Amino acid sequence: DERRLPMSVPTLTTVHELRTHCELVRASGRSVGLVPTMGALHEGHLSLIRRARELADEVVVTIFVNPTQFGPNEDFERYPRSLEQDRGLAAEAGAHVVFAPAVETMYPPGEKTRVSVADLTRPLCGASRGPEHFTGVATIVTKLFSVVGPCVACFGRKDYQQLAVIQRLVRDLFLPVRIVPCSTVREEDGLAASSRNRYLDSSWRARAAAIPRALSLAHATFSSGERLAGNLRALVRAELEEQGLEIDYVELADPNELEVFEDAAQVPARVLLALAALAGGTRLIDNLVLGEEPAPIGSLRGALLTSGGAA
Ligand code: PAF
Repeated sequence: DERRLPMSVPTLTTVHELRTHCELVRASGRSVGLVPTMGALHEGHLSLIRRARELADEVVVTIFVNPTQFGPNEDFERYPRSLEQDRGLAAEAGAHVVFAPAVETMYPPGEKTRVSVADLTRPLCGASRGPEHFTGVATIVTKLFSVVGPCVACFGRKDYQQLAVIQRLVRDLFLPVRIVPCSTVREEDGLAASSRNRYLDSSWRARAAAIPRALSLAHATFSSGERLAGNLRALVRAELEEQGLEIDYVELADPNELEVFEDAAQVPARVLLALAALAGGTRLIDNLVLGEEPAPIGSLRGALLTSGGAA
């Protein structure tokens, strides 16, 4: 009786093991791909792993729920953890090794160093979660880059501000890491894949679809020439509020420096539209670079244009 064993990969847990593994890979002339995650892997993570597999010979997936990026009232304790399942999923997507350290491994007693990226961490999610959130992200990612060494690292554009912070720290600290931004993976109705989606009950899940709808509406309006920041924000807010989502922020910002535009400002031809909203207590984020990316819901634009056009 030949049963198919679930695929899995070796799991490393110490800094020494991970560093040695990556050094050996490179010494044999092979390149290292890195996908840092907090586990609870979903299609978005799997697409990062597949992309890393295309770009590098050996892929390391890190799974670590990083305590320093959670605020005191955030969901660190209840953040979903599913290491066994994650290892199987990572293996199937093409990972060669999983690194799943304990908290004390990454933050041993007496450690004090923090990496903070000024300014980029203040607006958007930094304004509501506090800049400490991104200091936590920047610190853990720098530690991982330091252990892994020269590599190509894939990050999702869904966490746009996080990606901007990581790109900046790599540049500023001359780290030998090539950052590859990867497109947001969306579910059928356009909702961005996220580990937090599993907190949503069916009613909030349905209402959360207002998020990609709102981004698509803004995309269509922007495409037909609207440039006033206040008007673009207002239509996104209205779409979210209509479904009972509680808005944390809806902002238009410079895609590189993340400086936000006041309502009275005319936005440029390429502008970041970023938002965070609570769906029944679950905080969801999403974004779109208007003037660069397609709408999350392709058909919406068509529908809007045809409904406005001649029969
Ligand atoms: O995006 C995430 O899952 C986390 O913020 C990261 C980059 C793995 C750092 O903990």
